[in-house]
Amino acid sequence: MYRIEKAAKTAENIFEFWIHAPHVARNARAGQFLVLRIDEHGERIPLTVSGVDGDAVRVVFMAVGKTTTQLARMAAGDAIRDVAGPLGKPTDVKDWGTCVVIGGGVGIACTPIIARELKAAGNTVIGIIGARNAGLLLLEDEMREACDELVVCTDDGSKGYHGFPADILKKLLAERTIDAIWIIGPAIMMKITSGVSKSFGVKTFVSLNPIMVDGTGMCGSCRVTVGGETRFACVDGPEFDAHEVDFDELMQRQRIYVDQERASLERFHEHECRCGREDA
Ligand SMILES: Cc1cc2nc3c(=O)[nH]c(=O)nc-3n(C[C@H](O)[C@H](O)[C@H](O)COP(=O)(O)OP(=O)(O)OC[C@H]3O[C@@H](n4cnc5c(N)ncnc54)[C@H](O)[C@@H]3O)c2cc1C
Ligand code: FES
Repeated sequence: MYRIEKAAKTAENIFEFWIHAPHVARNARAGQFLVLRIDEHGERIPLTVSGVDGDAVRVVFMAVGKTTTQLARMAAGDAIRDVAGPLGKPTDVKDWGTCVVIGGGVGIACTPIIARELKAAGNTVIGIIGARNAGLLLLEDEMREACDELVVCTDDGSKGYHGFPADILKKLLAERTIDAIWIIGPAIMMKITSGVSKSFGVKTFVSLNPIMVDGTGMCGSCRVTVGGETRFACVDGPEFDAHEVDFDELMQRQRIYVDQERASLERFHEHECRCGREDA
């Protein structure tokens, strides 16, 4: 069992948990993830390792469906049945020169750990974080500390630049020499933003988030097409060369189980209501 050491709601529908998981904490590198199962009946879900403190790992997640909603209901002191990891290949950290690390929405969760490792390897790191509105911006202070420069954007202009990270990236690429870029966020945001860097020919990585089950290369559910070849995001990624990724296929495969996912969340809410009535 894995004890939740701290649990907090940090924004609308977004939660930050520190989980006691020494084997993950001691070995995790930037870009890697863990797979957790809340209880013996639960499904396995992948979450990025967003931070490490001693024997605890941080996950930052959005409650979007049954398992993440159930997780969000848990509190410090509760225990999670399984935590496997670290999984996936770490970020390609080396002395690139000047790097840009971009996070969109809950994808910002992955960015401080990547920015910190790139900086420690001697790079100049420019961060760009974007969210729909100011209330949904995550880890801004941490990113400010991890990066040499940070640009904040919101879709509605409630904080920072009024617009998308892609606009800032375009401006940066036109004005300065950038050697490598990381983009982590919703698939559509990664597609559009990496389209900008493609036109400038700058090496760009994205962290893909297909549906995963085992996280160990056995089930094939996380397959993605990169450079015309089938790759398994859990073992070959999750970071890939953005300019080779078939984003349209990724987005289509992310929606495969949408009806079942909706039904599962409805059953969970009905169960919660019944339990609430029985407790009353
Ligand atoms: C490598 C990786 C790292 C991730 N890191 C984070 C993170 O740090 N924070 C965060 O909020 N989310 C992260 N995700 C997405 C997260 O795993 C899904 O939001 C979660 O599995 C949804 O489960 P659910 O039961 O709550 O929702 P569901 O209702 O089951 O699904 C909601 C949506 O989430 C996606 N999803 C569902 N099941 C899975 C699954 N087993 N694997 C991946 N995606 C799934 C689908 O696109 C689906 O439409 C990551 C995904 C991957 C692949
Ligand atoms: S999650 Fe099963 S092969 Fe990747």
